[in-house]
Amino acid sequence: MLALAGIGELVTNDPALDGGPLGVVRDAAVLVGGDGRVAWVGERRALPDGHADRLVDLGGRAVVPGFVDSHTHLVFAGDRTDEFAARMAGRRYEAGGIRVTVAATRAASDAQLEANARRLAREALASGTTTLEAKSGYGLTVDDEVRLLRISRTVTPETTYLGAHVVPDGTDPDAYVRLVCGEMLTACAPHARWIDVFCERGAFDADQSRAILAAGVRAGLGARIHANQLGSGPGIGVGVAADAASCDHCTHASDADIEALAGTRGRTVATLLPVADLSTRSPLPDARRMLDAGVTVALATNCNPGSSFTASVPLVIALAVGGMGMTCEEALWSATAGGAAALRRTDVGHLRVGASADLVVLDAPSHVHLAYRPGAPLVRAVVQQGRVVSGGLS
Ligand code: NIG
Repeated sequence: MLALAGIGELVTNDPALDGGPLGVVRDAAVLVGGDGRVAWVGERRALPDGHADRLVDLGGRAVVPGFVDSHTHLVFAGDRTDEFAARMAGRRYEAGGIRVTVAATRAASDAQLEANARRLAREALASGTTTLEAKSGYGLTVDDEVRLLRISRTVTPETTYLGAHVVPDGTDPDAYVRLVCGEMLTACAPHARWIDVFCERGAFDADQSRAILAAGVRAGLGARIHANQLGSGPGIGVGVAADAASCDHCTHASDADIEALAGTRGRTVATLLPVADLSTRSPLPDARRMLDAGVTVALATNCNPGSSFTASVPLVIALAVGGMGMTCEEALWSATAGGAAALRRTDVGHLRVGASADLVVLDAPSHVHLAYRPGAPLVRAVVQQGRVVSGGLS
């Protein structure tokens, strides 16, 4: 077993330990079992003797659970530098930009797509993400969507079928929805855990979104939805009614939307993606209003080439605290336990005994530094299932 000791501040997300949501233990230690799970956590002075083959002193650094990034679009080709620059010069963001990436993705080889996805997955890991979800959605033909999901599966088991990202150019929308709910779903479902739909003006309307999620659920997939990103609309209501694990974006959520999310008592999480709002010059979502109403909030990167080209959860945490009214504690919880809730996972997002030993050693004495020092390279080491996968412990 590996013992990590000398932890100045350990965040476990186990409220039983200190009565607060983060379950903070000071002067702490963690024992990691050979099975890659947390075997023991507590104060250093209570560390049981004789169990560890190796003991590492972390010199007072903070340790937090590995980040759970529950919304990414990792498999694509090309980039949209020009579109971004034009937006920063005043042009509006439109859902149709997705088609530019679809064209580049269809033209790319599997090897190119895999290399790009692996590079981004490595970036995510190096910034502390130990669990990530990845969507298809830049293929939009049966073969290309299957290809994207197969490649996604090489980087994560949390794969999402997003054939309903936009209607491809030159295609009749009704015929495309039939394809998404029929032949494409049949081909994609074996490679996916989730189904998603972009419910937005310019993408899919409420009736189409309902039909797509219902078809996915009948095929054994869990539902999630892109909702209320670019304007107010029916997305959150559709997601809640479909028992979606998560409504993502929620930038333009009404009081009724927030009430509906709160009414699910955490069954449907609001996943906020502030870099997308930053990169599209949109208002940031009002996390405070949601939290005060009792909504369970997750934070995620939305890593994609159009609206949010980053895999950095620490950046998202800093934005959530600085611009969305979240406390440092709430933002860290939302980027760990909140992400796990958005994926309906109980084995990650916390460091209770039996959890996957996924943790981040910070070059800082406290998790507060994640927001206090935006942009600073604070991630010293990342442990995933008990193995050091980035940086070093000594
Ligand atoms: O979550 N909103 C839809 N999908 C992505 C954007 C993808 C793109 O612009 O390429 C998002 O922001």
